[in-house]
Amino acid sequence: MPISFEVNGRRVTVDVAPDTPLLWVLRDTLDLKGTKYGCGMAQCGACTVHVNGAPTRSCVLPVSAVADAKVTTIEGLSSDASHPVQQAWLELDVPQCGYCQAGQIMSAAALLARTPNPTDADIDAAMNGNLCRCGTYLRIRAAIHRAAEIARQAAADSSSPAPAGSGGPNGQRP
Ligand code: FES
Ligand code: FES
Repeated sequence: MPISFEVNGRRVTVDVAPDTPLLWVLRDTLDLKGTKYGCGMAQCGACTVHVNGAPTRSCVLPVSAVADAKVTTIEGLSSDASHPVQQAWLELDVPQCGYCQAGQIMSAAALLARTPNPTDADIDAAMNGNLCRCGTYLRIRAAIHRAAEIARQAAADSSSPAPAGSGGPNGQRP
C-alpha cells in the first residue's frame, strides 16, 4: 500500500506493508543508512529520528504511522554538519565507535529545540534512553551544553546590527 510522507524536506511515497518499521523503510527503501539498528525493541535509542520534531524510535514505529508526517534523519539535520549539536560533537570529539551517535545527536537536537538551556538533569532525563556501549555519556553531556552555547551565540550574532561601515552598498559585504 503506497504511503507518502516527508523525509528531510523531500516528499516520498513508498509501497511497503503498512506495519513495516520506519527504520527499515529509511534504510532499505530510501537508502538513508545513517539511522542505526541496535535492539529493535525501543530500548537503546540508536534508531532515533524526529517525527514532526519529536524524537522517535523508528525501529518500532510502523511506517503507516508517519503518513503525511515530517521525518528528519541524521542526514537531514543540516546539509553541512553545521547544526549546533553537530558542531559541538566535532569540537568535543564525542564519538568512540560511533554506532550510537546518530541517535544521540537526534535526541540532543530535539532536546535543545524544546529546552534551549538545559540543566544536567534535563539532559540526563532526555538522553536516558540513548545507550552508549562505549560510555561517552560525559562527553555527550558536555557537548549538549556546548551546543546550547553555540546556538545562543548564533542567535545573538544574527540579532545584533552590523557595525557602521562594516558593509558595502545596501549593507552587502564586498
Ligand atoms: S534499535 Fe530502536 S531503540 Fe534500539
Ligand atoms: S560511541 Fe560506541 S556505542 Fe556509543
